[in-house]
Amino acid sequence: MYDIRRITDDITYIGCSDRRLALFESAYPIPRGVSYNSYLINDDKTVLFDTVDRACSGQFFQNLEAALDGRGLDYLVVQHMEPDHCSLIEDVISVYPEAKIITTAKSVALIKQFFDFDIDSRVMIVKEGDSLNTGKHEFVFTMAPMVHWPEVMVTYDKTDKALYSADAFGSFGAINGNLFDTGVDFEKDYLDEARRYYTNIVGKYGAQVQMLLKKASTLEIKTIYPLHGLIIKENISNFVEKYDKWSRYEAEEKSVLIAYSSVYGGTENAANILAGKLADKGVKGIKMYDVSHTHSSYVLSDAFKYSHIVFATTTYNNGIFETMEHLLHNISAHNLQNRKVVLIQNGSWAPTCGQAMKSILEKIKGTEIIDESVCIKSALKEEQLSELECLADKIVLSIKESEKVLQTV
Ligand code: FEO
Repeated sequence: MYDIRRITDDITYIGCSDRRLALFESAYPIPRGVSYNSYLINDDKTVLFDTVDRACSGQFFQNLEAALDGRGLDYLVVQHMEPDHCSLIEDVISVYPEAKIITTAKSVALIKQFFDFDIDSRVMIVKEGDSLNTGKHEFVFTMAPMVHWPEVMVTYDKTDKALYSADAFGSFGAINGNLFDTGVDFEKDYLDEARRYYTNIVGKYGAQVQMLLKKASTLEIKTIYPLHGLIIKENISNFVEKYDKWSRYEAEEKSVLIAYSSVYGGTENAANILAGKLADKGVKGIKMYDVSHTHSSYVLSDAFKYSHIVFATTTYNNGIFETMEHLLHNISAHNLQNRKVVLIQNGSWAPTCGQAMKSILEKIKGTEIIDESVCIKSALKEEQLSELECLADKIVLSIKESEKVLQTV
């Protein structure tokens, strides 16, 4: 049975949610599922904005047929040629061979890599500022390279003052009935997964996101239609503000994230004691992760959120314990910048992980290592409590200094 949602008189949501997939892109756990959003415009011409992942093929074609209500399909707009949105374009063309595909030149090259159907005879290549009038609606196409692939474009509907934003302003999480942000508590129930989606999927491309935000700032936007997650109406300025911070690699919280891995509990013990001392000294909202237990996508997301990060790990194979090493490379690969960092190393006979962590982190732009002196030999000893006390003082001082800098800006 079709499952479509009327958004306006002439816009219908025909996407679907996947709660079975364990790993999005074979990489990111999605315990709350994911939605693949697709929108049909029933104007004088019919326009389909993107398709869905192949996992939802059956539901999608029922939805498309129902939303078209006997009409043909005039245009398929391909904003982003990643298969979570476009795995069905060849199938759509098979069912609606009269449809023209509107996309970018870069996208055509990618379409040819993924598919073998005849794209050249039915493509309308658009570039920055080109528009499509479909009757009531006038759509303007804007390039958004590297948000998240090089061929990405977004589309502004001048009539409804709506932005079809491709991957931008998306989130992990299935659609659970509520299609709009007005139906959820955005800060409490949505923002964390939106942050995890942004930081892991697009986080590396802050400069390119800034370019898109600059273009968007010239537009009046009443609705954002992303390709994943909720349609945004009520939280546009809030969400744009978060995107601005994330893409400038500016922390949301002046507080401490402690990421540790621990084989026999010695490093974990030190991490816990440090966290307690920080709390006693007034630091609020401290976050801790055992990085061997929590997937790095969650830790990376909070690394974007917090101003100060403590990495505590043990020496393993004369280097960094593997789950911590993976996290550090992940942070480096995602281009996270401007964090104040503390390193705590453990090593029962030859502690080397501190230097190894440092050699990864010091290559990251704006990283300031504020302390790397604490070295545990297997287990923390009573005489080392004063070292953790000093470390907590240093971190608190650094937080206060960064708050002062913020106040004087
Ligand atoms: Fe949701 Fe970059 O695809």
